[in-house]
Amino acid sequence: NEIYGAGLQGVRPKWPVDFKTLEARATAAMSPDLLSYVQGGCGDEFTQRRNADAFHDWGVVPRMMVDASKRDLSIELFGLKLPTPLFMSPIGVIGMCAQDGHGDIATAVAAQRTGVPVMASTLANDPIEKVGAALGDGVGFFQLYTPKDRDLAESLIRRAETAGFKALVVTLDTWVTGWRPRDLNDANFPQLRGHVLQNYFTDPRFLEILGKPVAEDPATAIRTWGGLFGKTLTWEDLAWLRSATKLPIVLKGICHPDDARRAVDLGVDGVFCSNHGGRQANGGIAAIDLLEDVVTASGNTPVLFDSGVRSGSDAAKALAMGARAVGIGRPYAYGLAIGGVDGVVHVLRSILAELDLLMAVDGFPTLAALRDAGVRPVRRAG
Ligand code: FNR
Repeated sequence: NEIYGAGLQGVRPKWPVDFKTLEARATAAMSPDLLSYVQGGCGDEFTQRRNADAFHDWGVVPRMMVDASKRDLSIELFGLKLPTPLFMSPIGVIGMCAQDGHGDIATAVAAQRTGVPVMASTLANDPIEKVGAALGDGVGFFQLYTPKDRDLAESLIRRAETAGFKALVVTLDTWVTGWRPRDLNDANFPQLRGHVLQNYFTDPRFLEILGKPVAEDPATAIRTWGGLFGKTLTWEDLAWLRSATKLPIVLKGICHPDDARRAVDLGVDGVFCSNHGGRQANGGIAAIDLLEDVVTASGNTPVLFDSGVRSGSDAAKALAMGARAVGIGRPYAYGLAIGGVDGVVHVLRSILAELDLLMAVDGFPTLAALRDAGVRPVRRAG
């Protein structure tokens, strides 16, 4: 109401409130190689397009004569009471989207200002400790790309715990990078070298493996880092992960209901249905089309969702399908590129404003009411 009402009074928002215009504005603001990195996906980007398009195959049916003049968008997640059901999905190298290079800190500040949690990527330009400090009373979850060296993984996890992160999000689908033509055709990452590895280059265990200061031989440090990956996690590794932390564990990248069931049976605290925004494998089914089966298979374990969410109405559909919380990726990276912390806050508030107004108009005072209503498949003529 605040944003829309002010707009009607002539106080227009500084930046676009819809994804299409936002992306166009970001396209003009970002260097071509940076845009390729953020905007790009796998193969011919079919899955990435489907992630967003498939939201149009589902609809929410409004209810009338219900008092939705006050809405409660809060959720409970991992014992935390959060004011909204949105979160920022992890984006590696997000520093490249920030004018000063400190994108991880910027998103932490945005998390603090909005109450929308951020998942801080392992591949950060700012070390975990600084991101944790920037969060203040905001909520952060730490996303782990798991290195082969378990001592290093445990060191990163311990540091995240100490820095105040509230959950460990273990990404499963990126032990190797997918086939991204734009990385080979367009992207050029001189800025990436070294900077992005701050979490590793400040890690005592990493320095032990390296055997010398990073500054002495940065090229070897980068090569050594590269050699630490390339092995998938398996179900057998879950017991080790459990023993490595008291934090709630979320598995990111679960798309099959059998995998969701197995994860729940093995005691994970959250199932994260995501196909990495179509960046890792092409030709797959849109993530939103897989969500309901994952929710059913997960029982009472909370399901987080991302991939293709571009608006408040997209978020509403994922919530109606049973997601406890909904993540966005590219939209907030664009917000950061065009407007820094304020740009991120703007994108989050725009999506939340649309979600809130949709719930008002459609007669859902609570997220439980929205979930009870569910979604209907859209029937098209012909
Ligand atoms: C990502 N994603 C990602 N995921 C993760 O677990 N760790 C990471 O470091 C990254 N890095 C990353 C960089 C960029 C530029 C993008 C766009 C995405 C995936 C991300 O967390 C999320 O799953 C998708 O971005 C969600 O899809 P949308 O909202 O971008 O369509």
